[in-house]
Amino acid sequence: MSNTQETHAGEHQAFIKSPKQLITVVVLAFVVPVLVIILLVTYVSRSTSTAPGSNALTLEAIDARIAPVAGFELIEVSRSKEPLTGDVVYKQVCAACHDAGVAGAPKLGDKGQWAERLAQGAQVLFESALKGKNTMPAKGGAAHLSDYEIERAVVYMANASGGNLEEPAPPAGEGEGEAAPAAAAPTAAPAAAPAATAAKTSEQPATAAAAPQKTAAAIQISPEAATIGKKIYDTACFACHATGVANAPKIGDKQAWAPYIATGMDTMLQVAITGKGAMPPRGTAMQASDQELRLAIEYMIKDAL
Ligand code: HEC
Ligand code: HEC
Repeated sequence: MSNTQETHAGEHQAFIKSPKQLITVVVLAFVVPVLVIILLVTYVSRSTSTAPGSNALTLEAIDARIAPVAGFELIEVSRSKEPLTGDVVYKQVCAACHDAGVAGAPKLGDKGQWAERLAQGAQVLFESALKGKNTMPAKGGAAHLSDYEIERAVVYMANASGGNLEEPAPPAGEGEGEAAPAAAAPTAAPAAAPAATAAKTSEQPATAAAAPQKTAAAIQISPEAATIGKKIYDTACFACHATGVANAPKIGDKQAWAPYIATGMDTMLQVAITGKGAMPPRGTAMQASDQELRLAIEYMIKDAL
């Protein structure tokens, strides 16, 4: 009796009774954690690379989330090199609405939706894209893009939707310099004319003729010009631009600014960044970003347009 009880007690106290069992336990003690780690690693790497269930971590989703930042970097870099092409601008900015037809935006490639708009002529389309139209925001909301880049996007969209627009002439002062638009304008009109419809032919020469003054008319004054722009002006630019020191164009002076405005905002900004003659680099506001300098310029010229 007592013997049996002892055996039972012994069994409860020691699971491992033979060397074979000991080996099994030792091996399991190693193998189980390793298996768990392998499973965890596979689980984690699978969910980041493919994730059939959740798309929170897919490359596309990440791209989409960082898009404004990445897009901006890209633009800053390319600004010093080459303007963006129409298809790139379209993908970065316009596709948000024009791919699916958000808020009644005419869809890319939908000839039916575009036909009437195309009949307005390139100039009207450019104006709508640059200044906005109803729910279509000015420049599609991408105020940092140049007029030229937006116009290229319009041409890309129009031509993918049954249109036959000419590439816009590059702005003065960029690339080939002042002579480029003057030389490009006359060639653009005849080239565009044969392909265009009757309605469009009447618009085309106007497009070419309007091109040189277009930059001046199309300069957008953003609301921040009155706040951020004014602040930069009051801390730096006023020193010369308030009274016209060293022939600096005076704030709001239409006549003084006209020749500068005619070169377009991008050229003015570029000159303000690098400096020119008595105009010091960044107008001495070394801490201001390019965008803030642009706002300061907008503030100075808003009453000179
Ligand atoms: C937030 C949405 C949105 C974005 C982004 C957007 N558009 Fe639009 N777009 C619209 C809407 C809505 C219309 C239709 C406006 C109307 O006719 O009332 C439109 C119309 C247009 C038209 C036709 C205008 C006309 O006169 O018929 C052009 C050209 C155009 N967009 C170009 C662009 C370009 C170029 C971009 C990118 C730089 C862009 N859009 C980005 C919403 C957008
Ligand atoms: C020390 C004086 C001085 C200060 C400070 C100054 N400017 Fe100027 N700026 C000038 C002069 C002089 C010119 C005319 C340059 C020329 O045409 O040769 C000029 C011209 C310009 C132009 C026209 C450039 C062009 O040729 O297209 C812009 C834009 C401009 N300034 C912006 C600014 C901004 C923005 C600030 C402040 C952040 C600023 N300036 C501060 C003296 C100054």
